Amino acid sequence: MSDMRILVTGGAGFIGSSLCEKLVAMGNRVVALDSMFRGSEANLESILGSENFALYAGDVRDVDDLDACVEALGGLDLVYHLAAINGTKWFHEAAHSVIDVNVNGTLRTLELAMAHDAKYVFASSPEAFGEPLSQPLTDGDAMVFTDPKAHQRHSYGGSKYLGEIACQHAARDGLDVQIIRPFNAYGPRLNGDEYGQVIAMFFQQLIESSELNVHGDGSQTRSFTWIEDVVDGFVKAGMQDLPTGEVFNIGSTEEVSIIDLAERIAKFGDKVEVSFGDGYHGDVKRRLPNISNSKQVLGWQSTVSLDEGLKMMWDSITL
Ligand SMILES: NC(=O)c1ccc[n+]([C@@H]2O[C@H](COP(=O)([O-])OP(=O)(O)OC[C@H]3O[C@@H](n4cnc5c(N)ncnc54)[C@H](O)[C@@H]3O)[C@@H](O)[C@H]2O)c1
Repeated sequence: MSDMRILVTGGAGFIGSSLCEKLVAMGNRVVALDSMFRGSEANLESILGSENFALYAGDVRDVDDLDACVEALGGLDLVYHLAAINGTKWFHEAAHSVIDVNVNGTLRTLELAMAHDAKYVFASSPEAFGEPLSQPLTDGDAMVFTDPKAHQRHSYGGSKYLGEIACQHAARDGLDVQIIRPFNAYGPRLNGDEYGQVIAMFFQQLIESSELNVHGDGSQTRSFTWIEDVVDGFVKAGMQDLPTGEVFNIGSTEEVSIIDLAERIAKFGDKVEVSFGDGYHGDVKRRLPNISNSKQVLGWQSTVSLDEGLKMMWDSITL
């Protein structure tokens, strides 16, 4: 489907910018709303001049900013809600803001979609499961949260959990809502500073110091998912007729330990050392998706192996 009027909140961020590029290339009219907390104009360089695209600097919690985006679009057919405070270090350091932006941003954009009878796609997270008791993460599994007195890591997972509740409530009220849970998306433009994500951090450390710092003992595993596969999941969820309230785990089923990841990335450099530091509270031991619903209902599965993706990412940095 093309020629839709689409709002992408968080559209100047890592996933949002790639999603905007794809939606514009498909022939849609797109407005990206972003506070520029972690997004940037540079992420959107390829489409900033396009007549079908506009970037609006504003706050997803502000209804005037949301209304201005709809006015710029001339109506609203679809909302992709990606705006959030993301990045593990922030979850510990800025729990109040994480809860405020993530929960209120979801409520305001759900209200906007309802007011315009627009379809709504929510970027949730596997962290909505908290510290789950079993893997792979499967719909219907318990979402397990630990005592906030010990640490506030789950400000983020808890905000996504509440977001899912708000989405399911809106679905029950008749809104067409889809929920996407991306599993460790990676690719060019991923943030590699201390507030960033592990693959980009390792590449940055490789270039700056030839020493990769692993959090904890490195035995924890993750499922890394190439950005174009993640964007494909969002597009499929937004553009197809689906039952409302569906939830899709968008993740590679290739389970990789962090020490294995560090060793693979070390091979791109020369005489690279791997060191070990403190782990984060609440960092789950495994994070593996069950993607049966994504395969059957969405027609989605990942197509890029980790080795292929790491090579593409390295090329994007060095070529
Ligand atoms: N990257 C992943 O692997 C991953 C995994 C699970 C879930 N998610 C979710 O997907 C979405 C996109 O993630 P990302 O990796 O692109 O993160 P990101 O931080 O690059 O993108 C989020 C964007 O939201 C913007 N933002 C923050 N506060 C805002 C506010 N008050 N108003 C408007 N914009 C605001 C930021 O500036 C940023 O550009 C997020 O909701 C995130 O929680 C991402």
